[in-house]
Amino acid sequence: MNEGIERISSGELSLRMNVTASQIRQDLNNFGGFGQTGYGYNVSYLYNEIGKILGLNNSHDVIIIGAGHLGQAIVNYSNFEKRGFVMKALFDINPDLIGKKIGGIPVYSVDDLEKYLARNPVPIAALTLPKEAAEGIAHRLVTCGVKGIWNFAHTDLALPSGIVVENVHLSESLMRISYRLANIGEEK
Ligand code: NAI
Repeated sequence: MNEGIERISSGELSLRMNVTASQIRQDLNNFGGFGQTGYGYNVSYLYNEIGKILGLNNSHDVIIIGAGHLGQAIVNYSNFEKRGFVMKALFDINPDLIGKKIGGIPVYSVDDLEKYLARNPVPIAALTLPKEAAEGIAHRLVTCGVKGIWNFAHTDLALPSGIVVENVHLSESLMRISYRLANIGEEK
């Protein structure tokens, strides 16, 4: 779309994505198929349909618990908003941070979490605080109606069913690099 391309074949997509054309056709067919034989895919239609599959047609408000290095990096990264994830507030226990704004986003005391969520329900919370505090905070968030936890704290959260937890481990990517460097030449 950015390149002004209006339609694209699965063959052309496969060259860009390093996946076979038949894999692309099969994957998209699982969702009903969006292409036509001989025409390929209308790029903006495909973009919108994939957005719908990923639930990106609506925007999602997000709060961040832990306004340290990682929490600040997340709110300062503006591209999340372009994807529909709107950072609304940070929460922390550090009195030096509470009351400040970071990247234009206010930092509140974590003591005010329930009060805030009663007035501003949000579906998603990021946990960027020490792991010892993560589980307790996660339960408080769930009690207040948060349905999705973006968990950066290195701990497994035991939460009621129906709550979506996405654990993020940046170190896994690093280990993958390390593995691939150690196995250069053996990759297909
Ligand atoms: P940091 O020390 O810079 O920030 C942590 C913040 O949490 C501090 O501002 C602190 O005051 C606040 N905090 C402490 N207890 C709290 C509580 N009960 N409620 C609310 N806020 C509280 O640490 P950093 O580097 O930002 O890391 C944050 C967390 O993310 C750590 O658990 C770290 O291990 C994890 N992490 C995970 C990564 C991953 O790939 N999953 C990568 C980097 C960090």
